[in-house]
Amino acid sequence: MNNFQITIYGAKDSQVHPEIKRVAESIDYQPYDIEQMIEPLPKTPNVILCYPPTEEISSLELAQTLRSVYPETSIFFISLNKSTFDKKRLIKNGFTQAFLLPWEKADLLRAMNYESIYSVLPELRDYKAIKVADLKPGIVLDFALKVYLPRSNKLLPFSHEGDPISEDKFEKLKESNLNTLFVKKDGVEKFRAYTANVLKDLMKPGALSETDKQDKLENCVRDLISDMFIEDSKENTFAASQVLLTEVKEIIDILVEDANKDVSQKVSLLINQEQNFYLHLSNVSTYAGLFAMVLGMPNPQEVALAGLLHDIGKINLPPEIAEIPEDQLTATAKEAYKKHPDFSIDIIKLRRIVLPDSSLKAIAQHHEALNGTGYPKGLSGPKICKEARVLAIANAFDNLTSIHQGKLALTPREALLKLLDDNMTKSMELDLEMLKKLKTLFIK
Ligand SMILES: [Fe+2]
Ligand SMILES: [Fe+2]
Repeated sequence: MNNFQITIYGAKDSQVHPEIKRVAESIDYQPYDIEQMIEPLPKTPNVILCYPPTEEISSLELAQTLRSVYPETSIFFISLNKSTFDKKRLIKNGFTQAFLLPWEKADLLRAMNYESIYSVLPELRDYKAIKVADLKPGIVLDFALKVYLPRSNKLLPFSHEGDPISEDKFEKLKESNLNTLFVKKDGVEKFRAYTANVLKDLMKPGALSETDKQDKLENCVRDLISDMFIEDSKENTFAASQVLLTEVKEIIDILVEDANKDVSQKVSLLINQEQNFYLHLSNVSTYAGLFAMVLGMPNPQEVALAGLLHDIGKINLPPEIAEIPEDQLTATAKEAYKKHPDFSIDIIKLRRIVLPDSSLKAIAQHHEALNGTGYPKGLSGPKICKEARVLAIANAFDNLTSIHQGKLALTPREALLKLLDDNMTKSMELDLEMLKKLKTLFIK
């Protein structure tokens, strides 16, 4: 039986979020006492969580100390203070990951869930998740593929080394809504060579596989935003933001210029995932770029860029608001929440991030509604730019097609039908003409 054990340093039971406690089967609380800390615990925990330490020890010393006692264990640092949070330094000094709560709570829970799966299925650590969309039927694969079944917690063979995936099996895979398969880490090089080969046949020099693209986009957003959390290093952030933005632009360029590929297939790759802040941004960016392209707009890259940054203003919301889902906010909290599009623009200006005007406008207007009921300005009709309309659709689309707190997501088809239906009968918030055109992507 699974006995997933967590050791928590520097917090009392009452300070630990119930959702965090729910992942663990047993929790052991330890004080920050150096003498005690350097003695290994009788049973090595599956995960160690560290809350901010007291004056006697700094976070960096803490990282180094615990890492030396537990070289193999995942040690997560949890911070509740945005101004002193320096993710890169914390990780450099020994923490496996560092999370700023409440913004990164979903990431922390995801990381802990993975650890709990590893505790019963240790071999999964040796595998890398790859995107089904990178595979082509009929080509011999010189690496084996496995499929992970969450209900029974099993990793089963999907195809063997030297086998091609038959057309038949490939069709079934597409129908099953399964986006991910697993390759053993020592086979990843072969997988990369295979995707490079497939892409070469499609005449796309320099193209990235879907697996690498998503990893890269999500990591870029993560780096970009974790730099913004550090309040007192504006100079650094400016240079870093420019580098990251250039990198992000490149990815987006590849993504939207590559119009030969089936857009609906690309979208179906991204749905059905547990949403977190970073994934939401990278998904909305992708959807907004693709939708703008399908709608024949001249600047899909600029719309995608807006998607990437549209919600960064949320990091300036008070923590108690950032933690609650939007539809559960009290009236006062909702008023504060409505400022986040403006905060996004403030951060972009403060960090001197250079964006095209259309991207800035789209960010500022992404919650405006055509019938005038939106925020922050309550603009209506023609006052809302096209880019913002696409962004609003991409935002709603991602919310419907992502998993929230275990709740099942809609398929792209269901999501578009719902958006169309809501906007025809209940409200007129989104652009109906755009929705009708986008519908044809998923419903022939
Ligand atoms: Fe937003
Ligand atoms: Fe959003």
